[in-house]
Amino acid sequence: IPVDPFDLVIFGGTGDLARRKILPGLFRRYCSGQMPTGSRVIGAARSEITVEEYRETVREAIHEFSKAKCDEAALEEFLALLGYVAVDARGESGWGELKEALRDDDDIVRAFYFSVGPSLFGDLAEQLRTHGLTNPEVRIVVEKPFGHDLESARALNAELARHFQETQIYRIDHYLGKETVQNLMAVRFGNMLFEPLWNAQYVDHIQITVAETVGVGGRGSYYDKSGAMRDMVQNHLMQLLCLIAMEPPARFEPDAVRDEKLKVIRALDPVDPESIVRGQYTSDGELNSYREDVENPASKTESFVAMKCYISNWRWANTPFYLRTGKRLSAQASEIAVVFKDAPHSIFGMDAGRHRNMLSIRLQPNEGMTLGVTIKEPGPGGMRLVDVPLDMSFADALGPDAEDAPDAYERLIMDVIRGNQTLFMRGDEVEAAWAWTDPLIEGWERRGDHPKPYDAGSTGPDDAAFLINKDGRRWRGIK
Ligand code: BG6
Repeated sequence: IPVDPFDLVIFGGTGDLARRKILPGLFRRYCSGQMPTGSRVIGAARSEITVEEYRETVREAIHEFSKAKCDEAALEEFLALLGYVAVDARGESGWGELKEALRDDDDIVRAFYFSVGPSLFGDLAEQLRTHGLTNPEVRIVVEKPFGHDLESARALNAELARHFQETQIYRIDHYLGKETVQNLMAVRFGNMLFEPLWNAQYVDHIQITVAETVGVGGRGSYYDKSGAMRDMVQNHLMQLLCLIAMEPPARFEPDAVRDEKLKVIRALDPVDPESIVRGQYTSDGELNSYREDVENPASKTESFVAMKCYISNWRWANTPFYLRTGKRLSAQASEIAVVFKDAPHSIFGMDAGRHRNMLSIRLQPNEGMTLGVTIKEPGPGGMRLVDVPLDMSFADALGPDAEDAPDAYERLIMDVIRGNQTLFMRGDEVEAAWAWTDPLIEGWERRGDHPKPYDAGSTGPDDAAFLINKDGRRWRGIK
């Protein structure tokens, strides 16, 4: 959907997220003709640099991180749309210049991207109001972490609400911008095939795995205060869980979708913190251990979580949802697997073995879906059954269209400009997610639990396998 020229200000415009994701993403949209030439993108940060210097840093970032086939002429045009203003988030300097840099037109979309730590959200929101930088088309974009517990998330929501309406606030969870995550909704609600079976009567259990090979990189000081529960489960895994478990919304519209997601979070049973497997990676001889990475030899923070939870509602009563995520695992693999129950009666007798249908939705890499179906084993050996995959890789099925699909940030930024909040979290959703995770975190903090060590490059602590094996089930995916 084409958009009109817009003004976008990126606070934290020289930061990591802006360099890696936001600006390369905008450039790709520019190259595909979705970002109109009349638009302005203004980097704002503390450093006193010139526009030319800023453009140079953006040029380097695009060379390093952009997936767009970098056409130098297009890059020059794009750089020409960039401005830069040095502002002091908590002081007076720069706000007048920033106002000057924006177009004085009530009809032009004016988006402010807060690509900064949450401690500055309230200050920035207030500065925008007091310096008269908003217009009727204003919207603000905030990044995770949105607080570190329920209390801080409530305080942030309240601070933002003092200056902006909920319809003007776009809370990003970039997992919602991923192509396959949206496909989850297309698969569920665009087909007749799956939805009738999508409930406790037919589904044995659901697994959600987000496994990463990377460690905590240079983000040790942030990560060590968060851990996998706050960094991944409270947001990304929770959003995946919501989309897989929610009731069909009446329309694909912001509040219709978000109301249904919220009901899922609110229906989640509390989990006994002791039942949750927490792990921390150790060195494999080559790569650092977690404690070396975060430079905290006594750290008790988890880089891995595996847990089982239940959604107490009519659709999912007694159906286990197994969630697992971790860093420095053996493979990068994010997958949702819906494992169906056994057929109620086997006409082939015991020899046929036990077979189950399974729908696996691969988020990354090799985005696609596999439906496991049971067929006869070829050959003369009688009616022996075997499971085979009906496999679809989006890249093979959709060809170049799949490759050109915008990445998560590109899509979400353009949704901000279009004013579409469907793929953004509402304040009450974020609070409900913290209300569920807080007691778990408090539980293990109170007891002073140490996470279980696991080797870098492994599948996580043995207890994670035990968590599911003791129920007669197995993790899928990473080996
Ligand atoms: C971020 C987390 O939100 O998501 C990171 O803070 C994590 O720790 C990242 O690595 C994973 O995102 P993706 O898109 O690479 O799966």
